[in-house]
Amino acid sequence: MTVSVIVGGASGIGAALAEQERDAGHDVSVWDVQPPADIRVDISDEDGVRAAVEATVAAVGLVDRLSVCAGVGSSGLLTDLDMAEWDRVQAVNTRGPMLVMREWARRLAEHDRPASFVAVTSVSAHLTDRNMGAYCASKAALNMVVKVAAAEWGAARIRVNAVGPGVTDTPMLGGAPLDRGWLTRVSHRTALGSIGSAAQVARVIAAVHGLDWVTGQIIDADGGLGLHSPIDAYEEILRSRAGEPADPDTQEAPPPVGDHR
Ligand code: NAI
Repeated sequence: MTVSVIVGGASGIGAALAEQERDAGHDVSVWDVQPPADIRVDISDEDGVRAAVEATVAAVGLVDRLSVCAGVGSSGLLTDLDMAEWDRVQAVNTRGPMLVMREWARRLAEHDRPASFVAVTSVSAHLTDRNMGAYCASKAALNMVVKVAAAEWGAARIRVNAVGPGVTDTPMLGGAPLDRGWLTRVSHRTALGSIGSAAQVARVIAAVHGLDWVTGQIIDADGGLGLHSPIDAYEEILRSRAGEPADPDTQEAPPPVGDHR
C-alpha cells in the first residue's frame, strides 16, 4: 500500500487532502500540532520532526507521498512588525517544511526509495501584498527551498514540487464571511469568479504527486487570482461602456476602449 503522510492534516487543505487520500486507498498518516493527528508534532522543532519520522516508519513504513500543508498566516506592516512574530512565521512556514522534507529525504536515501514531496506555499510568495510581509517572505523562501531540494534530490528519485493556493475557504481565513466585504471583492478579482475550497486545492496536490516527470515546479491553484494586475483598466472600460461617469475618486477619464497598453 502507498504511504501518504500529510503534515498539517488536522484542518483545512490538509484535512481535505487526508480524506481524498484515504478514499484513493492510500495508507494515511496525519501529522499536526493539534488534534486529530496520528503524530503530534511541531514541525519547527528539529528533534520533534526526527521523532515523528521514526514513529511513522514504525507505524506505517517509509513515505511515498509527502504533503506538507502546515502553515500559519500573519498580518502587519513591516514597520510595525514584532520580530518574534517574524520568527514564528518563518519557523513554521519555511524552517518547518524544510526540516520535514530533509528528514524524510535522509531516511529515504538510506533505503534507495523514490518518493514525491509537495509543499503548500501560496500565491503570496510572488504577489506583493502590503500588511503581509512576514508571510510573503516565508512562502517566497519556501519556493526556493523546493527548487533547490528538487535539484539536489532528483538523483535519489525524490521529486519535490509546490502548490500555491490563492485565497481558500479554510479556518485560516478566521471565519470571514464569503458573501460580503473583502472576500467578495477577492472573488470578483479571480478569473474563475470565486475563492477556492480546501477540496479543490487538495485535488491539485494529489494530481501533482502523480506527475512523474515533473519536479522543482510551483503550481498555483488560485482560480486565476494571480492573473489580476493592479494596472488593469477593464472595470473603467466597463463603466465607460455603461455610460457611467469616470471614477469619482480620481476624476480621471477612463482609457478609450481598445487602448491596449
Ligand atoms: P488551516 O489553519 O486550516 O490548517 C493549517 C494546519 O497547519 C492546522 O491544522 C495547524 O494546526 C497546522 N500547523 C500550524 N502550525 C503547525 C506546526 N508548527 N506544526 C505542525 N502543524 C502546524 O489553514 P489552511 O488554509 O488549510 O492552510 C494550509 C496551507 O495553505 C498553509 O501552508 C497556508 O499557508 C497555505 N495557504 C492557505 C491559503 C488560504 O487562503 N487558506 C492561501 C494560500 C496558502
